Amino acid sequence: MTVERFDLSGRRVVVTGGARGLGLGMGIGMAQAGAEVWALDILEDRFEAAREEAAEAGAAVEFFGCDVTDPGQVSEAAARCEDGAPLVLLNNAGIGERNPMERLYYEEWSKVLDVNLHGMFLCARAFGAVMVRQGKGSIINVASVYGFLGPDSRLYTFNEGGPSSPAYCASKGGVLALTRSLAAGWARQGVRVNSISPGMFVTDQTADIIDEAGRAAIIGRTPMARFGRPDDLAGAAIFLASDASSFITGHNLVIDGGWSIW
Ligand SMILES: NC(=O)c1ccc[n+]([C@@H]2O[C@H](COP(=O)([O-])OP(=O)(O)OC[C@H]3O[C@@H](n4cnc5c(N)ncnc54)[C@H](O)[C@@H]3O)[C@@H](O)[C@H]2O)c1
Repeated sequence: MTVERFDLSGRRVVVTGGARGLGLGMGIGMAQAGAEVWALDILEDRFEAAREEAAEAGAAVEFFGCDVTDPGQVSEAAARCEDGAPLVLLNNAGIGERNPMERLYYEEWSKVLDVNLHGMFLCARAFGAVMVRQGKGSIINVASVYGFLGPDSRLYTFNEGGPSSPAYCASKGGVLALTRSLAAGWARQGVRVNSISPGMFVTDQTADIIDEAGRAAIIGRTPMARFGRPDDLAGAAIFLASDASSFITGHNLVIDGGWSIW
């Protein structure tokens, strides 16, 4: 049956940044679709609450401490996946900056690039190597509509009218380019690499940079007239992880309620 092609039973999904927000939402959805889900995160004091949140949704998610910017920790996590279980990597961990361009110090710029782009590279390299050895696998990189669109500065409070999140935008543009490079290079080895680009979602990452007027403006500008919810991404993640997308690689799937249409 066609629907069986979406079944993730027997697959292990590793979700970076999976202890809250979009990563947890997608992890729960993928566990509901049958996957064994391992969430890697630095937020170890959130693991218990996140485990309970998943259990309430009928999903079992395992949590492991791992900083995606630390090559040793990433290699250690990937080594646990050498047991032959078919593997999916949801490269989701990400952060944004909080200072306007004029006071965006090099350290803050670098930190954003370090987590969003270098961390994604380290995870793709370590888990991708396991997949290449297995001759099969799927990597899903979480980009953003701000990887290919400029943000409207008028919607955000923290940028003092200047450029919004230049480090974040640069990192997400890099994620899209990295995705195409890996997809082309690993296509003949059975490893598919795609990205998803969420639009506007309220999570811990975005809650403090959008005030009430900004929220109303975002909803007004979104064709579907609402913010996204973490589980709006689950269907796309399941699709790209599963055999339902068996001939799709190098694609960027935009999930934004229509934000990028106009
Ligand atoms: N919220 C949005 O509107 C939105 C839109 C587009 C894209 N995204 C992207 O979606 C992804 C998830 O964002 P979110 O909104 O759920 O944010 P979030 O802050 O709620 O979750 C991010 C998670 O990543 C973890 N993390 C941060 N640094 C890490 C590191 N070094 N190692 C391991 N884990 C680390 C955090 O602890 C957190 O659990 C990010 O890549 C983000 O850029 C979010």
